[in-house]
Amino acid sequence: MCGIVSYIGSREARSILLEGLKQLEYRGYDSAGLAIRQGNHIELYRAVGKIVELEKKIAGKEVKGTIGIAHTRWATHGEPTEENAHPHRDQNDDVFLIHNGIIENYLSLKKWMEKDGIVFRSQTDTEVLAQLIAINFEGDLSEAVRKAMSQVEGTFGLAVIHKNVPDEIVIARRGSPLIIGVSDHGYFAASDVSAMVRHTNKVVHLKDNELATLTAGGFSISTAQAIPIERDAETVEWRAEDAELNGFPHFMLKEIFEQPETIQNAMRGRLEPGEGVPKLGGIMPVWENIKECRHLVIVACGTSYYAGCVGRYVFEKLTEIDMEVELASEFRYRKLNFPPNTFILALSQSGETADTLAAIREAKRKGASLLGIVNVVGSSISRETEAGVYNHAGPEIGVASTKIFTSQLTILTLLALLLGRHQKLSLTEGVEAIRALQLLPDQVRAVLSQDNHIRAIAEKYHKRSNWLFLGRKFNYPIAMEGALKLKEVSYIHAEGYAAGEMKHGPIALINPDMPTVAIAPMDDMYDKMISNINEIKSRKGPIIAIATQGDEKVKELSDEIIEIPPTLDYLYPILAVIPCQLLAYHCANLLKRDIDKPRNLAKSVTVE
Ligand code: M6R
Repeated sequence: MCGIVSYIGSREARSILLEGLKQLEYRGYDSAGLAIRQGNHIELYRAVGKIVELEKKIAGKEVKGTIGIAHTRWATHGEPTEENAHPHRDQNDDVFLIHNGIIENYLSLKKWMEKDGIVFRSQTDTEVLAQLIAINFEGDLSEAVRKAMSQVEGTFGLAVIHKNVPDEIVIARRGSPLIIGVSDHGYFAASDVSAMVRHTNKVVHLKDNELATLTAGGFSISTAQAIPIERDAETVEWRAEDAELNGFPHFMLKEIFEQPETIQNAMRGRLEPGEGVPKLGGIMPVWENIKECRHLVIVACGTSYYAGCVGRYVFEKLTEIDMEVELASEFRYRKLNFPPNTFILALSQSGETADTLAAIREAKRKGASLLGIVNVVGSSISRETEAGVYNHAGPEIGVASTKIFTSQLTILTLLALLLGRHQKLSLTEGVEAIRALQLLPDQVRAVLSQDNHIRAIAEKYHKRSNWLFLGRKFNYPIAMEGALKLKEVSYIHAEGYAAGEMKHGPIALINPDMPTVAIAPMDDMYDKMISNINEIKSRKGPIIAIATQGDEKVKELSDEIIEIPPTLDYLYPILAVIPCQLLAYHCANLLKRDIDKPRNLAKSVTVE
């Protein structure tokens, strides 16, 4: 969703901000803008559409300041127009402000201001915030922001500059992430690390209800009640090259191909092959309680939710725990009973998904203990959970989540194995699991080596407008994830179904025009999947099978076959999802879609 980057230092802000905005493009946006201090005034440029439109507006202009704020906007209040793009100003052009989040009481504040004759130029909630800071300003910008924070309801990550305060950027946060970057030539404030990773990997996370003042020589943090806070910078492991394409045409393809490494990273230092038990240091703070846990609820959205659905089957196989998986966006409408020692496990790449955050906050109110599996270090979910495990997968830039899904499945398996070894699994079972986990990176490489073959299948079928994905048990969520991947990047309609449901409705759809991707590895559901494939074949539906290497039976029944190496039942999803990701990618590419930034989508969904 919206992205923030600001800079104050010794270098020219213009190129730093434009470059930062480009790094934020993956979050999804429909307009962009920046404001740069130049002497005694502030230059404002905004444009609808891609950053390149903003660059065109600035081209040939003398914009030379070293202090500036910039923003990519994903419209919530008001259409994507230039007037609605950020930065927003007060009516006198004193305050320039960028904002992520939603000001919930903006209408009542606006009414009150309009009564006093204040003139508005946009339909946004953000403009109200700019006007409010201007009204509160009496010479001290952080005080004006602090006062405004007490008057607004809702969420914000904001950065603001004032015409009469020549050497400061003030930033504040409530509910929308904001990070300070410390470089050798100045200070950054951004909504995520990728906007500044080319300049620094030293960051300070601002917490909710805190604000900070940035100058060219340093920064100071304080609470909304003006209590000063000392916080040291942390070093993030992301590198500048992680945000580059490195020869791949799209981030989605690059990230699909990174999976042997990201699966390895999810296991690195966490396996004890001889003991048949993983080590998860991040879980240790709650070990005494979690080792006896009998009730675990996974909450997540989108692809992370489907990872949770696989996780449910894996935990049920390896542990004694009663499992539930809930869409975070539905969680608060459920009447869930939490027996004593219930854990809630949030899965999230970004660690900032609004629904997932709301779900864990609700669960906490009901007395549950909170765990997280999160990729972005220092993100809200990682901080609000009591214990957890990081993916260490590097930034995922493509809007379609790929490498994080397989990383989440790997970590869920490690967690289930850790608890299972304590609750019921023998040493032999533990050792067998770890051996199979260790083979995964090479097995994923073997699946990826069929990329040309998968592209050829996509060439044959990419013009079909309806697809079906079928799987059972461990691979039922892979059918849903395969369908989601295809829809979100290629805009082809696809359904993911539990194969056992076929006869209850979807079989009516089968005809020679609709391809079915049947996920049919040699697991304990194999015979049932063969029956489903036969049912589709007898109705002349084209079958693209994902099957275990050397499976002649499935080969004979199917129109196309993509082979995956043999593994344990509960690890097949990690291999079976790779062909689904590649099929989605190649169909989207053949259809010339905007693969890394599909229409209407944002990488990190920070509003409900
Ligand atoms: O950052 P999160 O994992 O919490 O994000 C959850 C979903 O928004 C995300 O997985 C979304 O469904 C992706 N676009 C799927 O590819």
